[in-house]
Amino acid sequence: MEYLTLCFALSCWMKLAGSVSSTDAPQTPAPIPKGKLLVLTVATAETDGFHRFMQSAKYFNYTVKVLGLGEDWKGGDVGRSIGGGQKVRLLKEALEAVADQEELVVLSVDSYDLIFAGGPEEILRKFQQANHKVIFAAEGLVWPDKRLADKYPSVRSGKRYLNSGGIIGYAPYVNRIVSQWNLHDNDDDQLFYTKIYLDPLQRQTLNMTLDHKCQIFQNLNGAVDEVILKFGTDRVRVRNTAYDSLPVVVHGNGNTKMYLNHLANYVPNAWNYEHGCSHCDDDVLDLTRLKEFPNVTVGVFIEQPSPFLPEFFQRLLTLDYPKHKLSLFVHNNEVYHEKHIQRFWEQNRNVFKGFKVVGPEENLNQGEARNMGMDLCRKDAACDYYFSIDSNVMLTNRQTLKLLIEQNRKIIGPLVTRHGKLWSNFWGALSLDGYYARSEDYVDIVQRKRVGVWNIPYMAHIYLVNGKALRNELKERNYFVLEKLDPDMALCKNARELTSHREKDSPSPESFHMLKPPKGVFMYITNRHDFGRLISTANYNISHYNNDLWQIFENPVDWKEKYIHQNYTRIFTENHLEQPCPDVFWFPVFSETACDELVEEMEHYGSWSGGKHEDKRISGGYETVPTDDIHMKQIGFDKEWLHFIREFISPVTLKVFAGYYTKGYAIMNFVVKYTPDRQAYLRPHHDSSTFTINIALNNKDSDFQGGGCRFHRYNCSIESPRKGWSFMHPGRLTHLHEGLPTTNGTRYIAVSFIDP
Ligand SMILES: *[C@@H]1O[C@H](CO)[C@@H](O)[C@H](O)[C@H]1NC(C)=O
Ligand SMILES: *[C@@H]1O[C@H](CO)[C@@H](O)[C@H](O)[C@H]1NC(C)=O
Ligand SMILES: *[C@@H]1O[C@H](CO)[C@@H](O)[C@H](O)[C@H]1NC(C)=O
Ligand SMILES: *[C@@H]1O[C@H](CO)[C@@H](O)[C@H](O)[C@H]1NC(C)=O
Ligand SMILES: *[C@@H]1O[C@H](CO)[C@@H](O)[C@H](O)[C@H]1NC(C)=O
Ligand SMILES: *[C@@H]1O[C@H](CO)[C@@H](O)[C@H](O)[C@H]1NC(C)=O
Ligand SMILES: *[C@@H]1O[C@H](CO)[C@@H](O)[C@H](O)[C@H]1NC(C)=O
Repeated sequence: MEYLTLCFALSCWMKLAGSVSSTDAPQTPAPIPKGKLLVLTVATAETDGFHRFMQSAKYFNYTVKVLGLGEDWKGGDVGRSIGGGQKVRLLKEALEAVADQEELVVLSVDSYDLIFAGGPEEILRKFQQANHKVIFAAEGLVWPDKRLADKYPSVRSGKRYLNSGGIIGYAPYVNRIVSQWNLHDNDDDQLFYTKIYLDPLQRQTLNMTLDHKCQIFQNLNGAVDEVILKFGTDRVRVRNTAYDSLPVVVHGNGNTKMYLNHLANYVPNAWNYEHGCSHCDDDVLDLTRLKEFPNVTVGVFIEQPSPFLPEFFQRLLTLDYPKHKLSLFVHNNEVYHEKHIQRFWEQNRNVFKGFKVVGPEENLNQGEARNMGMDLCRKDAACDYYFSIDSNVMLTNRQTLKLLIEQNRKIIGPLVTRHGKLWSNFWGALSLDGYYARSEDYVDIVQRKRVGVWNIPYMAHIYLVNGKALRNELKERNYFVLEKLDPDMALCKNARELTSHREKDSPSPESFHMLKPPKGVFMYITNRHDFGRLISTANYNISHYNNDLWQIFENPVDWKEKYIHQNYTRIFTENHLEQPCPDVFWFPVFSETACDELVEEMEHYGSWSGGKHEDKRISGGYETVPTDDIHMKQIGFDKEWLHFIREFISPVTLKVFAGYYTKGYAIMNFVVKYTPDRQAYLRPHHDSSTFTINIALNNKDSDFQGGGCRFHRYNCSIESPRKGWSFMHPGRLTHLHEGLPTTNGTRYIAVSFIDP
């Protein structure tokens, strides 16, 4: 309140001072009142860029008159070829109406690719200081006629050439310029202004100049390196470091639209360190106020063998969203996954509104499949959103779909990253040739040090597209281009190989399925919540029976979720373990799935040793206390098993045998099978280990009867092993033990002799 009062008082004072100073101090003319500034812009369609422009204008309280809305655009393809004459024609018509207002200052700017970084007072002050009647924006590149370069007045420092994206001047003078227009709508506006400016007589009589040092207008074309963000407490500006100026109008001309999008994620008040994101809650959709939930077509793409696919489907199923509003379209490119999809389909086909699978036999390439999925939504007027998700995205946030819908953008993706890596599903910037570049804020966004909704040039793997947008702005088909056939991608690959050492964490464009932004539609990524992670599909060997068991190195988080007991961490937080006999500890470690898959894997391998004394697998070739077993090494699981011991058993050892630091080393790692008709028990023995772990892999009573373990010295037996729980006991001297007879069924245990 105080601030406002002061503000009003100051403006009164300025008016007063202005009227006095006009007689007393002619050097400092009265400031032009901000009511005397009129912004004119031409926009034939309300694109995302237009809305952003209007938002920045509104923030600074500019008075804006929009010309041409609803008209067809006839101005050619500005930026690539010449054009823009329609803009001059519309400006000419508008200025005829105000040509006699001598004190009116007119600011003519583009709007699709332009934002304000400062307010009307500032722009008027700078205009006044420049002491000319008309000022054009300037740039360092001459366009569209290079031959005119020599005709320009030379400048000692600053930008030499005219850019027509920004003009500020007194109405009568601007009128005298645009009234000379008698060309066609598709003739070039910049050439028109250039010719007038280059005429020395007109330049003088119309009192024209260029904003050589970007006091008012910053054109980004050719100047990206001159510009940095400058964070203030309320506002963010751009600073031109070449001229140490703070431009008021920032224009992403030429191929700098993406860079403007980046700047506009901050300028003027979109995001700053003090208050974070300002527009994140603008225009959000409140799902609770809708009569019914929107219909969503979910495109699922399995383009390569993907670890944890059943879990991926499970997460789709547990999304917090009414399933009868979801239609599934699954493209599966892998024969290996047909069984997973079959299982999911059988259990859930009636849960969803629709369920369509396109399998590997259809021979669709990735681009065709993605086109097909998107088309299903595009062609169905009842499809409100298209949600595309690849099989390498683990959505851990059940609210994801709702949150994306509520954010209400045409295209928006949730940030997902590779666990512990800087690899994510978006690019923060593009190099000038259109490939990956690291944006200044990339790491902060990935690590959620800056939280918001970010306008970005590329994203992949998971995104939501508004169905209406699909039927309007994005109505063109065949939106996805297959990389292999695209010559640009070959170039990209070359470029990547050149930079792969420097940009280790940059996603490889091959694996990175990119959604290319169409003209005028902004693409956003949100990191306002934790949504999930990207898993690695590299090094996925599918020649085992249960292949995910081998993913402990490549995808440790998902491995732990799938295979480690739900209550494992409670060992450390709540002392959740038991001591049934002296120095015998008993704790949960494997999930049901881990137990089942390990047993399946062994049975699939099938070559049980038969419990003979002669054993070629061990040094010496003789086993004194043989079991009917299969070694982890035999199924190629020894490296993974040792890693499991170091990651999950060593911490327990440290807890229960205080002061003993295990090397986590073990040679003898195996699964034992006890059955009454082969081997039912194991006679009393010591283990050649410092300590031994013994994990029960199935259930007493339902899978077998009998079983258990007896420690002689303490006359202590454990007769009810629990599936997924492990014993841990010293191996030598004190703990002579025996395996009690299994009387019926089959009992499996996994054993390791640790630190032999
Ligand atoms: C715009 O006008 C509103 C209301 O008059 C005022 O509260 C706000 O501070 C103004 N904004 C700027 C940037 O001057
Ligand atoms: C332009 O007009 C200003 C007054 O508005 C005058 O001081 C200046 O000399 C003029 N410049 C030229 C080049 O005529
Ligand atoms: C969802 O689709 C059904 C037809 O399958 C249609 O009747 C309904 O109106 C749609 N709902 C919405 C919110 O679009
Ligand atoms: C995949 O696993 C099989 C069976 O263990 C093994 O023979 C093969 O070498 C592995 N392939 C790769 C690429 O590691
Ligand atoms: C974990 O512990 C809780 C509480 O004791 C129990 O309800 C739950 O069944 C346990 N989870 C498993 C997988 O045994
Ligand atoms: C061992 O314990 C059982 C009961 O738990 C008891 O019947 C038996 O006599 C004990 N044996 C010895 C040698 O103490
Ligand atoms: C052995 O197990 C089978 C199947 O699990 C069961 O039908 C049978 O009754 C069991 N026999 C005994 C003696 O418990």
